[in-house]
Amino acid sequence: MLYTSVLRPLFFRLDPEAAHDLALRGASLLARSRLACRAVERVVARPAPRPVTAMGLHFPNPVGLAGGMDKNGVAPLAWWAFGFGFVELGTVTPVGQPGNPAPRMFRYPNDAALVNRMGFNNAGADALAARLAEQTARHLRPPFPVGISIGKNKETPPERAADDFARAASVVQPHADFLTVNVSSPNTPGLRLLQNAAEVGRIVRAVRAVAGGKPVLVKLAPELYGDDLLAALDAALSEGVAGVIATNTLSTATMTGYETGGLSGGPLRALAATRVAQVRDHVGDGPTVIGCGGVAGGPDAQALLDVGADLVQIYTALVYEGPLLPAAITRYLRPRARTVGPSRPRG
Ligand SMILES: Cc1cc2nc3c(=O)[nH]c(=O)nc-3n(C[C@H](O)[C@H](O)[C@H](O)COP(=O)(O)O)c2cc1C
Repeated sequence: MLYTSVLRPLFFRLDPEAAHDLALRGASLLARSRLACRAVERVVARPAPRPVTAMGLHFPNPVGLAGGMDKNGVAPLAWWAFGFGFVELGTVTPVGQPGNPAPRMFRYPNDAALVNRMGFNNAGADALAARLAEQTARHLRPPFPVGISIGKNKETPPERAADDFARAASVVQPHADFLTVNVSSPNTPGLRLLQNAAEVGRIVRAVRAVAGGKPVLVKLAPELYGDDLLAALDAALSEGVAGVIATNTLSTATMTGYETGGLSGGPLRALAATRVAQVRDHVGDGPTVIGCGGVAGGPDAQALLDVGADLVQIYTALVYEGPLLPAAITRYLRPRARTVGPSRPRG
């Protein structure tokens, strides 16, 4: 209530990226104090315990922060304080890069949607690794799984993409509980072409070779469907991925009425649920499936879990509903301790 009636109108007077930067600065300030984070978690957010075990990791609840919000890992402990059950930092590239020129983030309040064409603006894998090492040394590491999303630099030619993914992975893996191969952003030219089976297989193999045994996931675009989706999944599975994230943003390239970029939030909800169901249907019980796209409340999250997701992630709805949304979602979810793995009973 405080967020939607007071803070959101103030934030929405700012340019979307400026509002994002301000929110991130606030979160990073909070993340500097273990005591303050514990107080926010216990007194303000009050997430319900909804434990999930997946990929050999323990998640206090299945609601995660999606890739792209905290690309440089400035506030992991704050995301725990707000009630999230895990976070995915990044996407980081081997070398830091500025991303696309601004403006590059746009709100569509009538759709509860965003369009972004950030283009992997990030400080680079080395900077992220250094920051996370410092947080660990200062006992500011959150008590939940921290994933790191990796990507390729804009200037790297497609034939050397796997090298970029492997370079970024080898630098950040000591600080990650899992790694995500992001081949699905619409804002890096040619990236989505890497979703063909041969490239997915090559990249996953290169990343797993340097991942230090950490689980590796692949994040796919919502436009990938049918035989192409199944081929990408088969290639990823045969190279030993631990899971799949469905989905990234929807490209607006062929749409009217939206800026060019990736569309997220409300308009993605139904399609994301469809893809989650298709992915679960194809991969079977073993691999972890993370549902992402348009989750704006408890019913949306429960719907993704019901069609086969083990975990869910949110980004856009945080902008519209505020930072306590994840905790509210956990209180809505049906309690269900699930163990994901070959021995998990179906149903
Ligand atoms: C501003 C913005 C930046 C994003 N950056 C990334 C990114 O760097 N890596 C990534 O995997 N996904 C990125 N995403 C996509 C989200 O992780 C998520 O897949 C998508 O927004 C759908 O979820 P939502 O509807 O809850 O926002 C970004 C999304 C937004 C809105």
